Amino acid sequence: MPAQPLFTPYRMGDLDLSNRIVMAPLTRMRARSDDHVPTALQAEYYAQRATAGLIVAEGVAISPEGFGWADSPGLWTEEQVRGWRRVTDAVHAAGGRIIAQLWHTGAISHPDLRGGARPLSASDVDPMQISVTAAGRVPTVAPRPMTKDEIRRTVADYARAARNAMVAGFDGVQIQANYLYLLAQFLNKATNLRTDEYGGGIEGRSRMIFEVVEAVLDEVEPAKVGVKIGPMHETGPFAANDETLPMAEYAIRELGGYGLSHLLIMGNTTDFTGTPLEPLMGDGMFRHFRPIFRGTLIANTDMDAERGNRLIAEGLADLVAFGRPFIANPDLVERLKNGAPLAEIDWTTVYGSGPKGYSDYPALQPESV
Ligand SMILES: Cc1cc2nc3c(=O)[nH]c(=O)nc-3n(C[C@H](O)[C@H](O)[C@H](O)COP(=O)(O)O)c2cc1C
Repeated sequence: MPAQPLFTPYRMGDLDLSNRIVMAPLTRMRARSDDHVPTALQAEYYAQRATAGLIVAEGVAISPEGFGWADSPGLWTEEQVRGWRRVTDAVHAAGGRIIAQLWHTGAISHPDLRGGARPLSASDVDPMQISVTAAGRVPTVAPRPMTKDEIRRTVADYARAARNAMVAGFDGVQIQANYLYLLAQFLNKATNLRTDEYGGGIEGRSRMIFEVVEAVLDEVEPAKVGVKIGPMHETGPFAANDETLPMAEYAIRELGGYGLSHLLIMGNTTDFTGTPLEPLMGDGMFRHFRPIFRGTLIANTDMDAERGNRLIAEGLADLVAFGRPFIANPDLVERLKNGAPLAEIDWTTVYGSGPKGYSDYPALQPESV
């Protein structure tokens, strides 16, 4: 194993990546507000970051029902597909690879984003989180439980978005199944109180994610399909409970049977002390799931070059994803390679509009390396 495994090539599914550094998905609210079409600015921003071995583009709503964050992009209209084509062309021209993250926000959406309609979820449990609407941040509301017809339609919406992603020139897709969004709402026993086959025990609650994976695989070969998933400890109904870990273990073990291109797993972003997830703090997350999932594992959260190199050298990860560091450092790969200092994020412009704090962070000039 070389001294800096982060900078060695890797074959993920059917993609040759030039290094092991992944840009983690980052919602940045720069899509067009009215029709959720990605902009030329987004193409420029992603192309600036194309030296990453792989870019996982920001969460992309699979449907109007799945849309749930102001100024985020979609992937259900032809114009959105054309907008994404501009982005993927720019990244490819710069020598990069980019996949789309398929996103249904479920109960994290808000009536203000849905023409007054309640958001849809597994059950009518208010997730007690924050929705980001055009008017700003507001508390979530109790969603409406999906009918079985709506579940079927939603599964089909994932498949359509995956198909559209390929038409738009993406190198693959990643299904968003962690955090607080729709698939996590189905998996979590505190937000899924259903008594039909989509609820109940661990198997029932995971039916939705497997139907989604299978529908996506009908459209896109497994070597191009990954999942972001993992146990988390958040607030309200998303506080870790006694089934959070067994649920994640079951889902991740079963996902191993589909021959997927990758799994992206976040380490803890909150303090797990005193929760059932306590043994998974720090590298514990990757140590725990590495033997459970046999495919490519992308480790994420609070990485630096030293930790990334070590995780790969120890066999705990194949690739390492950086989220926040890519915001202010378009040339993050170069900086990590040279041990150059990292620029700081201006948090006031992270969820903003326009180029400021988005595409205007400079790369290091040669003389300052
Ligand atoms: C501004 C911002 C936006 C994010 N948007 C997304 C997103 O759209 N989809 C997602 O799965 N994770 C999202 N995340 C989480 C990141 O992908 C990543 O998992 C997290 O920031 C931890 O990695 P880091 O420590 O390298 O930042 C976001 C994080 C930040 C800071």
